[in-house]
Amino acid sequence: MTARMDVLLGAQWGDEGKGKVVDVVAPDYDIIARFQGGPNAGHTLIFDGRKHVLHTIPSGVFREGTVNLVGNGVVIDPVTLVKEIRDLEAAGVDVRKNLLISRRAHLILPTHRALDAASEAEKGVGRIGSTLKGIGPTYMDKTGRNGLRVGDLELTDRMERYQALTRKHERLLALHDRPGAAPEASEEWLTAIETLRTLQLVDSEHYLDQALRQGKRILAEGAQGTLLDIDFGTYPFVTSSNTVSAGACTGLGIAPTRIGKVIGIFKAYCTRVGSGPFPTELSDATGERIRQVGREFGSTTGRARRCGWLDLPALHYAVMINGVTELAMMKADVLSGMSDLRVCTAYRVNGQVTDRMPYDISSTIEPVLEPVEGWGELRADRPIPTGLQHYIGLIEQHVGVPVKLVSLGPDRDQTLLRDKTLVN
Ligand code: IMP
Repeated sequence: MTARMDVLLGAQWGDEGKGKVVDVVAPDYDIIARFQGGPNAGHTLIFDGRKHVLHTIPSGVFREGTVNLVGNGVVIDPVTLVKEIRDLEAAGVDVRKNLLISRRAHLILPTHRALDAASEAEKGVGRIGSTLKGIGPTYMDKTGRNGLRVGDLELTDRMERYQALTRKHERLLALHDRPGAAPEASEEWLTAIETLRTLQLVDSEHYLDQALRQGKRILAEGAQGTLLDIDFGTYPFVTSSNTVSAGACTGLGIAPTRIGKVIGIFKAYCTRVGSGPFPTELSDATGERIRQVGREFGSTTGRARRCGWLDLPALHYAVMINGVTELAMMKADVLSGMSDLRVCTAYRVNGQVTDRMPYDISSTIEPVLEPVEGWGELRADRPIPTGLQHYIGLIEQHVGVPVKLVSLGPDRDQTLLRDKTLVN
């Protein structure tokens, strides 16, 4: 029997702490593979007193011997990638040896970023709150069959292809009444693709197939979160890729029959960055407290994240869509010491109570909040306090899968494994 690929992904609106969990479980895997998104992601890892934020490179990069693959479903900004490599090298990490890039991954051009900015500006108050990294326009070119792929950089006519796409973008930018990307941005991009060409470019679907046949263990690392999925998220306030587990199949070229565990990461509360509906949002001092204690500011854009209570119908939805087999709960420590904790167990939609996520979760839906017992200080060398045990029990009862890991702080060491089968 061949080995299987596990998937780890966000079960909320992103920023759940996926990078930390990947880093904790990475020693169990031979390969960590990103399957969607791009530099809109910011996966934060903290160990040995240092903080690292990864945007494109998978979070296995700090583990000796782990192969890190950027899959075909990812959109790559060469400038960000090269900068990330340089920063890691400066921190003493030998990145290039174990970094593989899919030839089928699409490239973000400077003009994609300009188009992102133009589109957001035109939307005005209805803007998505995009990270402005060029994600939407790049995926539009992919599905529109105009995109430039990493593999194209190996072709002799790569410059012609680049120029043709740039010209098309300039025509679009003129329609938006916006000039194109600054010449220095293009210069920087062209320099970065020369470095990208020196990296290990692979046909990742074949590489991963062979790895599985050899019994290697693969972890697919999701970016953003389920509720930002292009199909199942809170459209149109979503990102442009499939962040759900099915995205790991198309974003890596792995058949659904080869998926093993699906690990869903969620925070003990909810956050959202950018615009869009957020039923349990707290626009008061409690929300501000969570933001300050949880340091809820974007790792990619620095924006303040909106904060609110844990939303169980939304989490249940994420478990269903992704086929989550186990959960990891992050940042339980942020709620320590709070006496007025609440959790959303259902929604009230047009006067009817439902635990189903409706088509439209705009302001017309009202969260049904239940008070829950709080807990005090959490430490990895002490048993889980009763209040937190009850909280976990309530979650498991609602969503029907076990919470196997509880994170008590940003460091690798501040992690409690409730069930050792999460790592094996
Ligand atoms: P885009 O993918 O940069 O166009 O952003 C679309 C929406 O997804 C915006 O609301 C962003 O704030 C949000 N978003 C994109 N990437 C992330 C992420 O990694 N974490 C959290 N939110 C994200």
